[in-house]
Amino acid sequence: MTALAEQRQWTVPGPPSLPIVGRKLNVARFGVDSIGFSSQLFQTYGPVAALTAGGGTNLYSPDSNCPGTVVAYGPDIVRDVATQHHVYHKCPLSGTLYRQRNQSDRSKALKTFGVGLFGVNEENHIQQRKLMAPAFHKQGINHYREDMVAITQSELDALQVDQSCEIGQFMQRLTLRIATQTLFGEDINTSDQTVGELLQEVISTQLSPLTRLLPVDIPGLPFSDYLTLVTKYEQKIQKIIAQKRSADSGEIDMLSMLIHARDQDNGQQLTEEELIGHAGVIFLAGHETTANTLTWTLFLLSQHPQVYADLVDELESVLQGEPPTVEQLSQLELLDRIIKESMRVVAAVPWNGRVTSQETELGGYTLPKGTEVFLSLYHTHQIPDLYREPKAFKPERWETLTPSIYEFSPFSAGPRLCIGAAFAQMELKVVLAMLLQRFRWEFLPGQVIDRKGLISLKPKSGINMKVHLQDYQFSDGSGGVQGNINEMVQLPY
Ligand code: HEM
Repeated sequence: MTALAEQRQWTVPGPPSLPIVGRKLNVARFGVDSIGFSSQLFQTYGPVAALTAGGGTNLYSPDSNCPGTVVAYGPDIVRDVATQHHVYHKCPLSGTLYRQRNQSDRSKALKTFGVGLFGVNEENHIQQRKLMAPAFHKQGINHYREDMVAITQSELDALQVDQSCEIGQFMQRLTLRIATQTLFGEDINTSDQTVGELLQEVISTQLSPLTRLLPVDIPGLPFSDYLTLVTKYEQKIQKIIAQKRSADSGEIDMLSMLIHARDQDNGQQLTEEELIGHAGVIFLAGHETTANTLTWTLFLLSQHPQVYADLVDELESVLQGEPPTVEQLSQLELLDRIIKESMRVVAAVPWNGRVTSQETELGGYTLPKGTEVFLSLYHTHQIPDLYREPKAFKPERWETLTPSIYEFSPFSAGPRLCIGAAFAQMELKVVLAMLLQRFRWEFLPGQVIDRKGLISLKPKSGINMKVHLQDYQFSDGSGGVQGNINEMVQLPY
């Protein structure tokens, strides 16, 4: 087929590609501020829009014949994508770098890195989730509460009262410790470089633009460092798996549970390669997302003093200064509404990325096979017909609101629903209950709070807060917020 004929198949409207910089500029604009750029596209072209008219962009799909990229939102579209599991595929987290996996001996670690549940589709995906499910069941995760409490306690003990704290970093460290302990049975306070810290290094190298622009294995180039780190990760996790297998010590971390998982019907177990892939994906999908949700929630509370005061009231009356037990978590109704509203307003995971496995229809347009689709949970959560005053942070709306899973899906929907949702909800509640009872967190006015990130949205330059022993002065520090967070939330001051 000629290039012209292929272009004719691409009917989704979008902005033209500019002379010289071409399509790359639109890709870069999406990469720099996916929320801002896609909001403009939706306003101009409607709920299904292309990054560039005529297609030809490729951000995520490892298939080099990717015909283009579409952004879309709305409950019908969420439903179509979520329920057509065979049509909308996912790809390994290494994205376009996955193409390099057969290049050399050094690149073969890419065959497993970031694959896990993200790199399997259709029946294979269903089968693997079935095997993994027990490690994520409510009963299964309840015993992680103790680790969450102990680690939160030790991080709170280390805080300097009346000093400023960058809460983005604080939450990253806290959730990194929790993820490393619950997934691998290691604590970053006691081990040398843990597998969790190594994974963070891999991802920061992967996200460097030069790694993707120049995926050549020449010493000194970031791609070469990336391969070294991915291989080191693979070797380290292989060693941990071997130790856990041989010790058979009855450890209850997630990796041990996955190693011993067995299909009741056919006796099938996860292979070594699958285990390596799952460990990385669970860690990466679970740690930064939770840290960013905690960060945004604390920020929103600091700007809504009455909600903040009511929440501390609820926490103190139910918990009386103690960390919540599993049973008490369900009594914290306001905390539950606040977390839902925070995830609706800011959405730490704003996008679901997919690639079409065949030609299909979406929102009235034909998408060619191989199209990248970025589905916006964030914009779906902002539809005024579903959420009155969508930009207002109003936890009380959840007293009566009962949206469908396609209207409100911070953890996605359908067979790809976040496998760690129950774990995340417990972690969010345990951590917030502990840090809000003990300290008052005061926003330091005048900071510019801009959003950053595609996979997970975080504050670009962090958020500084002063840590006070709980003194109930919730109005101190509200107001004076600058930056594009004001486009997402209508702050009261
Ligand atoms: C507040 C925290 C979290 C949020 C907002 C969140 C959100 C999401 C979303 C939206 C997806 C679907 C992504 C897509 O299909 O494109 C997802 C998938 C996933 N999440 Fe989470 N997540 C969180 C925490 C966790 C935790 C704590 C874990 C593990 C302990 C986890 C593990 C996973 C995995 C493995 C998948 C892939 C599921 C599959 O493809 O079948 N997540 N998450």
